[in-house]
Amino acid sequence: MQLTRKGLWDGVIREFRDFLPEIKDDAVTTLKEGNTPLIEAVNLKSIFGNVRVLLKFEGLNPTGSFKDRGMTMAVSKAREEGARAVICASTGNTSASASAYAAAAGMKAYVLVPDGSIALGKLSQAMMHGAMVMQIKGNFDEALSIVKEITANYPVKMVNSINPFRIEGQKTGAFEVCEHLGHAPTYHFLPVGNAGNITAYWKGYREYYQNDIISSLPKMMGFQAEGSAPIVLGHPVENPQTIATAIKIGNPASWEGALKAREESGGIIDAVSDSEIIEAYRVLSSMEGIFCEPASAASIAGAIKMKRNGVLNEGDTIVCTLTGHGLKDPDAAINSSPKPVKVQADIKKILKIMKL
Ligand code: F0G
Repeated sequence: MQLTRKGLWDGVIREFRDFLPEIKDDAVTTLKEGNTPLIEAVNLKSIFGNVRVLLKFEGLNPTGSFKDRGMTMAVSKAREEGARAVICASTGNTSASASAYAAAAGMKAYVLVPDGSIALGKLSQAMMHGAMVMQIKGNFDEALSIVKEITANYPVKMVNSINPFRIEGQKTGAFEVCEHLGHAPTYHFLPVGNAGNITAYWKGYREYYQNDIISSLPKMMGFQAEGSAPIVLGHPVENPQTIATAIKIGNPASWEGALKAREESGGIIDAVSDSEIIEAYRVLSSMEGIFCEPASAASIAGAIKMKRNGVLNEGDTIVCTLTGHGLKDPDAAINSSPKPVKVQADIKKILKIMKL
C-alpha cells in the first residue's frame, strides 16, 4: 500500500491562495491553522426546534482561537517585508497568537494587555512564546491607541486587525463554512469585540458570492456584551465591563466594517447580558460537549435570544462561530460551575455521593 496525502492540510495561506494577497512562499509562517470542524449541535433541539444549528469551533486552531487565521497572514507579510518585530494590543487571544507566530517566524513580539482583565491561559501562552508582555494599567482601547502611536513612529509591525492582512486571513473562516455546508447559512452569528472578525467573515462570504461559489448570502448577526456594547449604543463606552474579557472593548477599531456587514447583509448588531453569555457557555459544554470561552458563547447566547424573539424560522440554517477554546479561561469555567466534592479515599463514602 502507498501513503497518500489524503486529509493533510497546509494552513490557510496555501489552501486559499487564490483568494488571498500573494506572499512569497519562503516568508509563509504557518502552524497549519484553519480547517476547523463545523459541528452540528444535535442536542440543542429543545431550544432551537427545527432550526439547524452548526458550530464553527475555532478554539481548535493551533493557539486555541480564530486569531491564527489572520496572524499567519499578518506575520508572513511582515516577514516578507523584512520586519524584525511585531506588536499588538490585546484582550488576550491576539497576544497569544502574535507571540506564537512571531516565535515561529524568528521575530520579536511585544504585547500590551490590560492588567487584570486577561484570562490566565492566554497570558501563559504569550509568556511561554517569549513575547515581551506589558500589562498596562488601563483598558484595551488605551492599549490600542498606544500601539497605534508606536507603530506610526517606530519600525515595529502592527498585527492588530487594523492591519488589513489580518482581515484577509480571517475571511477564510467564511470560506470553510461554505465548503463544509455546500452553501451559505441563512444566518451567521458572531461575538463582536474589536469587530474585525465580523468584517472578515462578511468579506469572505461576499467574495465567494461574487465568484459564484455560493448563490446566497447570510445575514450577519453580531453580539456584544451588554456592558461593552458601543456599536449597539451608537457611541464609545469609556469603561467597558463584562465577564467575557475577550470582548471587553469600548471603541472597536473595525466599527465601520461591522456596520457595513449589518447593513449590507440585513443582519443586526445586538447585545447579550453576562448571565445570558454564561447560560449559553454552560449549555454548550454540558449538552454538546463543546468547551468554548465565555466571549465565544455570546454567539450562541445571541442565537438563543433570536430564537426566543421569533426571528429564526423552521428550516433556517445558522452557524455560530465559537471563537476561542474554553481552556483559555479556567477561572471563568471554575467560577461558573458547581464546586467539586471533596471526599476521603473511601469507597463507601464515594458510593454514597454517587447515590449507588
Ligand atoms: N471572541 C474571542 C475569543 C476573542 O478573543 C475576540 C477578540 C472576539 C471574540 C471578538 O473578535 O475583536 O474581531 O470582534 N479578541 C481580541 C484580542 C480583541 O485581543 O484577542 P473581534
